[in-house]
Amino acid sequence: MQTVESITSLQAALNEWRDRKTRIGLVPTMGCLHDGHLSLASLARQRSDRVVLSIFVNPAQFGPGEDFQRYPRDLERDCRMCEKAGVDLVWHPAPAQIYAGDHSVYLQEDSLGRHLCGSARPGHFRGVLTIVAKLFNLIQPAVAVFGQKDAQQERLIRRMVRDLNFPVELITAPIMREADGLAMSSRNAYLDPQQRRDALCLSRALRRARRLYRAGERDVEVVRAILRRELTDNATAQIDYVEIVDNTTLQPVSRMMQPVLVALAVRFGATRLIDNLMLPDDRLSNLPE
Ligand code: PAF
Repeated sequence: MQTVESITSLQAALNEWRDRKTRIGLVPTMGCLHDGHLSLASLARQRSDRVVLSIFVNPAQFGPGEDFQRYPRDLERDCRMCEKAGVDLVWHPAPAQIYAGDHSVYLQEDSLGRHLCGSARPGHFRGVLTIVAKLFNLIQPAVAVFGQKDAQQERLIRRMVRDLNFPVELITAPIMREADGLAMSSRNAYLDPQQRRDALCLSRALRRARRLYRAGERDVEVVRAILRRELTDNATAQIDYVEIVDNTTLQPVSRMMQPVLVALAVRFGATRLIDNLMLPDDRLSNLPE
């Protein structure tokens, strides 16, 4: 496995592959890898000849007062995990490689990013789309893999690829969960033992939503009210949002008559966790029964 930092070394490695018409698979990450990221790498592996995993804690997607400075970073451990997972190249650029001091061009999406995390984290998706477009331009992957856990991010990237004609195939990987149902996230490391226990309310609430749906309930307000009660029945949970939206447009719906996304964002102290469930086809959510 190669590990490179500069854009020049990245391009040198990629040019060799491109000369041999190698199909490149990209897994963009911010590091602090867990099994969820490795599942993305494994999907990329199945769909390409060479896998590039990028590790870059992207300052442009963090708002003021968010966790950019304390976001967990452990490059050596990440590289060991990548090596074991059969990644071919890890690219970990320094911020100065990515953003010129007077960087002034950003990518803005004007519809899907308005709700959910878009309203809770203004500017977040502008930062995400900008870095992902840069990664696509620099690496020119044939396929790129993103996780369903960040469902809104996935929908926005899909829209960007469509609207700006990026020649890349997107693959969506199912949510990976701990044995007790908590969705894997690098931010789980921030939780203290009480918060870690309380965080199970996310998957519990989603299972509740699924049971209600299977029993025929379609009224969004009824389901949201039940989920809110389920989530606040905890010492440390503070709801950021509980939404049920159209699965593709992410617009709010009042009845669940089309495929929907049940999306949750909840704070445990300073840690904000998200989780989601697609209905009726819940396969990508990987929720235990
Ligand atoms: O999902 C993430 O880890 C990040 O938002 C991404 C896609 C790597 C962009 O920085």
